[in-house]
Amino acid sequence: MTRKQTIPTHAWRNNDKLVGIGNTFWDMSERNGLAGIVADLDVDAGTLRTRAGHEFIAAGHEFVNFSCCSYLDLDTHPQVIEGGIEALRRYGVLDHCIARSRVQIPAMLELEQSLGELLGATVVCAIAASTATFGLLPLIASGHLGNGTRPLMIFDRYAHISMANVKPVCADETEVVTAPHHDLNFIEDACKTYARVAYVCDGSDSLGGYAPVRELAELQDRYGLLVYYDDSHSMSAYGERGVGYVRSHSPILDERTIVVMTLNKAFGTSGAAIVLDGYDKQTLRIIERFGGALNYSQLLNTAAVGAGLASAEIHRTAELTELQNRLYRNIALFDSLVHTDQAGSTYPIRLVPMSDETVIEAGRTVIEAGFYVSPVFFPIVPRGTAGLRVMMRAGQTEEQIRGLATVLAEVGAPTAAAVEPEPVR
Ligand SMILES: Cc1ncc(COP(=O)(O)O)c(C=O)c1O
Repeated sequence: MTRKQTIPTHAWRNNDKLVGIGNTFWDMSERNGLAGIVADLDVDAGTLRTRAGHEFIAAGHEFVNFSCCSYLDLDTHPQVIEGGIEALRRYGVLDHCIARSRVQIPAMLELEQSLGELLGATVVCAIAASTATFGLLPLIASGHLGNGTRPLMIFDRYAHISMANVKPVCADETEVVTAPHHDLNFIEDACKTYARVAYVCDGSDSLGGYAPVRELAELQDRYGLLVYYDDSHSMSAYGERGVGYVRSHSPILDERTIVVMTLNKAFGTSGAAIVLDGYDKQTLRIIERFGGALNYSQLLNTAAVGAGLASAEIHRTAELTELQNRLYRNIALFDSLVHTDQAGSTYPIRLVPMSDETVIEAGRTVIEAGFYVSPVFFPIVPRGTAGLRVMMRAGQTEEQIRGLATVLAEVGAPTAAAVEPEPVR
């Protein structure tokens, strides 16, 4: 007897495509020593040393990581490390395992208060930005986070996977569409048609560039558009006291703008901040109770809270500006040597374009020369936009940046002098 096969709808996702295409490149990356690397960090030298040998890379091979999002190197800052240890001692517990809506130790509340003061908003912490997004977007879809009306949810085509992954869940609560990248006309047309619209996008794209925050604010003003930004890549690296790109530029900081930022990039610790303005206590309770894993899963552990408190303190000092300026100087040096579409902006990520055929080989040559840059390819990026992703940090030295630029030129990256400079974005 033949038994029945299930028939997938594939309305919002398709693992056959994702795994089928993506896994080939991951396998190639791993075979070429560009994925699956295990390496020890030498904090003083700012380098990594591979633990195990590989067909192309020997054990003990030293390299500089140009693909790490700790843009200000705060993850290794002595005060941040000490903050984690001190909080563990102070609270005497790593993780008191019970839903926060029932009983919580005051550790995470302390961090929420500190971040709230830093960002000038109400902050709810989550264990990760992905977890926050998975909790919040369905509440926006059902109108419980917002003004009570179920919005048409527009996802930007390039919205980070942590947001795109939630489409099927949101689609069970409301109508969901995918828009061309930051297509303001598309959004405005929807605002004219639907009683309520929510737009979901990156504030700072993981592949470079910032969202049109001011133009979106005009639509927010005109139509009551709600915008959900993931501004993870600019937290700490951008703005006074590191408030990020969106909160530095959006004239609308009220209940129409919701920002989520990971604490795991330039902020240098773990977890995420949900940044809210204008929401009452009752809505905050709805988030805590019905934001999925925000309630039923673990909170930030005490070490992460302590590290976060220490990082927040650094954000209140001149050291933060000094680190941001060091980062910007390193970015400018890189831009003076290698041309990319992102050149001229303060954004810490650069994409050196390559073809699907050359990107792995190029990445291998670069790591052999002592620098790690991650090859990106479909489905990490849209088809036909493969390249080597370079991430700049405050702690990289001039010698390291020049060394990387030299080897990138060898693998075909256009040098800055060879092309017309792009206008500053
Ligand atoms: C835009 C964006 N959002 C979220 C994340 C993931 O953050 P978290 O680790 O806090 O879930 C990433 C990770 O690369 C990202 O690029």
